[in-house]
Amino acid sequence: MKFFIDTANLSQIREANEMGVLDGVTTNPSLMAKEGIKGVENCKKHYVDICNIVDGDVSAEVISTDYEGMIKEGEELAKLHSNIVVKVPCIADGIKAIKYFTGKGIRTNCTLVFSPGQALLAAKAGATYVSPFVGRLDDITSDGIELVGKIVDMYSFYGFQTQVLAASIRTTQHIIQCIEVGADVATCPLSAIKGLLNHPLTDIGLAKFMEDYKKVNG
Ligand code: E4P
Repeated sequence: MKFFIDTANLSQIREANEMGVLDGVTTNPSLMAKEGIKGVENCKKHYVDICNIVDGDVSAEVISTDYEGMIKEGEELAKLHSNIVVKVPCIADGIKAIKYFTGKGIRTNCTLVFSPGQALLAAKAGATYVSPFVGRLDDITSDGIELVGKIVDMYSFYGFQTQVLAASIRTTQHIIQCIEVGADVATCPLSAIKGLLNHPLTDIGLAKFMEDYKKVNG
């Protein structure tokens, strides 16, 4: 399973990249706003800065909600860097825009997906990635991981090439569950990725190795 980091924070992106296991980045308008990035040109510059850190796919989301606007924005975003994947909401104009981008060889991430039906439409339009939102479904006492599994099974059954990118990942346990249901990618906060390293037996074992080494070597 590939790891993307779900942030627009450059120092977190650098830190994750330096771990050597980062495959890409996802952003959204809320994450850009959290970093205080204002205006179209500053957003574009920020996307290029991210692409210059990570050698992998970087999702940049359109702000328009109409077909023409999404096409104009998406084409501009795709020209910024070869790593850019245009992120498009799962609405009727968005599906139509994904179909257009597919025809132009522009890679896409269909976002805000909450049902297998939406995921089917994204795949039929040729989306590179589909993003089911795990945490937001869990928040309303639905089962986000179950949805990821259903989409993985559907794509496998029908032979769709669209990759299942589990989004809205909140915890390390979510990452483990994504592996169990066969997600292609999980986009995660840095804290959840780092959480994979935590095991008390590793800490206890390492402390013992160091102690025994010092007994003999001083
Ligand atoms: C990424 O593609 C999504 O926009 C993001 O994971 C949403 O996460 P949230 O539900 O924690 O805002």
